[in-house]
Amino acid sequence: MDVETASESESSSYDAAQRRSRQIEADLAGDAGRYRMLTGDRPTGRLHIGHYFGSLANRVRLQELGVDSWIVIADYQVITDRDGVGPIRERVLSLLVDYLAVGLDPARSTIFTHSAVPALNQLMLPFLSLVTDSELRRNPTVKSELAASQRPMSGLMLTYPVHQAADILFCKANVVPVGKDQLPHLEQTRVVARRFDETYGRGSLKAPVFPQPDALLSEAPNILGTDGTKMSKSRGNTIEIGMTADATAKIIKRAVTDSDRNITYDPQGRPEVANLLLLAALCTGRTPQSWADEIGDGGAGRLKAVVTEAVNSTFAPIRERRAELEADPGHLLRVLAEGNARANAVAEATLDEVREAMGMAYDLA
Ligand code: TRP
Repeated sequence: MDVETASESESSSYDAAQRRSRQIEADLAGDAGRYRMLTGDRPTGRLHIGHYFGSLANRVRLQELGVDSWIVIADYQVITDRDGVGPIRERVLSLLVDYLAVGLDPARSTIFTHSAVPALNQLMLPFLSLVTDSELRRNPTVKSELAASQRPMSGLMLTYPVHQAADILFCKANVVPVGKDQLPHLEQTRVVARRFDETYGRGSLKAPVFPQPDALLSEAPNILGTDGTKMSKSRGNTIEIGMTADATAKIIKRAVTDSDRNITYDPQGRPEVANLLLLAALCTGRTPQSWADEIGDGGAGRLKAVVTEAVNSTFAPIRERRAELEADPGHLLRVLAEGNARANAVAEATLDEVREAMGMAYDLA
């Protein structure tokens, strides 16, 4: 740190994470059975197509490759940055509906909620002893979420990277698909795993209790909202996975474009138009450039018609499946109960190992 500046060292650790991520990707095709993935979402609202192309599609891909997949519906994490949980039950079920509708299969992907897995949450106690206040205050993700929340720092906000470490380590996941913004959490998780091992692991156990998880960095392009800014519920610029075809058409009709009739793909000069072309491209498996060439001087009207058709036909089967799932809440609750049972079994086994390493397994000795 004395020679390098902080930002140089950040970017070199990003490069290292990226190299490692590419290696794992290459390895996954032939050896998916060596990997357990954990990732998740907070149930704060409905998922949009940015989530679909940015992460859900990738989870389904990993599941299909044969990676053992674990997905946390992070209900306790909802209250890191807001007061109260909102209509939590409805949101948890809607998240589950999205997961199943896009193709996550509960037989191969364990879907569970934080609040139903006490042993996972109990890992917070020893883990909290392994991190310092200043480490947590420096965490860039905590800093930016704190600023966005416009609230004072709560104890849960400060320590949520440690809770996230518990999510990842309770099931001993070795890969975590993340965007660049969540890398600091993964780094914190690696530190917790290493310190636990240094403090307790080597004394009484031959192998470390926890693996060092790696990031699987997303190479997916980032889709913007229909106004050309970050896609986010609070801005009203999102296309939800579960929207109707009509609502989708309406929001795309309102999308911001520019006054040049000739449609070209120019992400720097014409970001809003480029974003719509990208969306059409992702839905159809073509390139944004080829759509720009085809639309040519058809103008924004033609561009929006193309995007509407592409989005609605891509999401039609998912939306149909969504409607079927919503009509059967009993099935949803069973899927969740089964996921929670599997998560509890694994969490209890891990907690037993932790107690044993710490010399606290009084009843096991
Ligand atoms: N913090 C993540 C988010 O807000 C959700 C999450 C909770 C998560 N636990 C996780 C992601 C563990 C990866 C690994 O999107």
